[in-house]
Amino acid sequence: MRHETPLTVRGCTLHPGLLEPAEQAALVEAVREVVRAAPLFHPETRRGQQMSVRMTSAGSVGWISDRRGYRYDARHPGGMAWPPIPPEVLAVWDAVAGVDRQPDSCLVNFYGPEARMGMHQDRDEADFSMPVVSISLGDDALFRVGNVERGGKTESVWLQSGDVVVIGGDARLAHHGVDRIRPGTSTLLREGGRLNLTLRVAL
Ligand code: SIN
Ligand code: MN
Repeated sequence: MRHETPLTVRGCTLHPGLLEPAEQAALVEAVREVVRAAPLFHPETRRGQQMSVRMTSAGSVGWISDRRGYRYDARHPGGMAWPPIPPEVLAVWDAVAGVDRQPDSCLVNFYGPEARMGMHQDRDEADFSMPVVSISLGDDALFRVGNVERGGKTESVWLQSGDVVVIGGDARLAHHGVDRIRPGTSTLLREGGRLNLTLRVAL
C-alpha cells in the first residue's frame, strides 16, 4: 500500500491511491470468489423500488434491503451464509481504521454505467465509535458528502480505483452518496463498472 497524505472531505478521510494496481487486482479476484459463493442481487427498498446497484456481502452478517426494510442478516436472500471477508480486504481495514476491532461485514456494491446511490447515513450498526471503511475499485465515482443532519452544504470528490475513504469520528453519521460513475475510466474490471467495498463493525 502507498500511504500518501490523506485528504479530508467534510470530516471523512480520503486516502488517494492507497491501493497499488496489483493490490486492486487481488481484491477483485477475492471479490469474484465472494460473488461465486453469494451472487450479486438487486435489492428492493421497503417501497418496492429496485436499487440501481447490485450487491452482496461477506462476513458474519450482510446488509440487506427488501420489503421488510433494511437490516443486517446472517443469510443471503438465497438462504446461504455469507462467505468470510477475504484477508486482502481485512488488511485494508487494518491499514486505515485505527481501531482494535475488525469488521464483521463487508458490503459489495456493483455499479453499472447507470447506477447511483442516493444520499443516506450508515446507521444500522450498533457502535458508531467504529468507523466505516470504503474501498473503490474500477470506474471513477462522484462521491458526495454532506452533514449529519439532512440537507445543507455538501462537498463532492471523484473517487478513483484504489482510493479508500474512512467515514469515522464526527463524520461517522454524515450523509453521503454517489451521484454517478464515469464509465470507461478504468480497465480493472473486465466488464467495466465500479465495485465499492464497505467494511463495517455491524454488531
Ligand atoms: C455506500 O455508501 O453505500 C457506497 C459508497 C460508495 O459506493 O462509494
Ligand atoms: Mn453508505
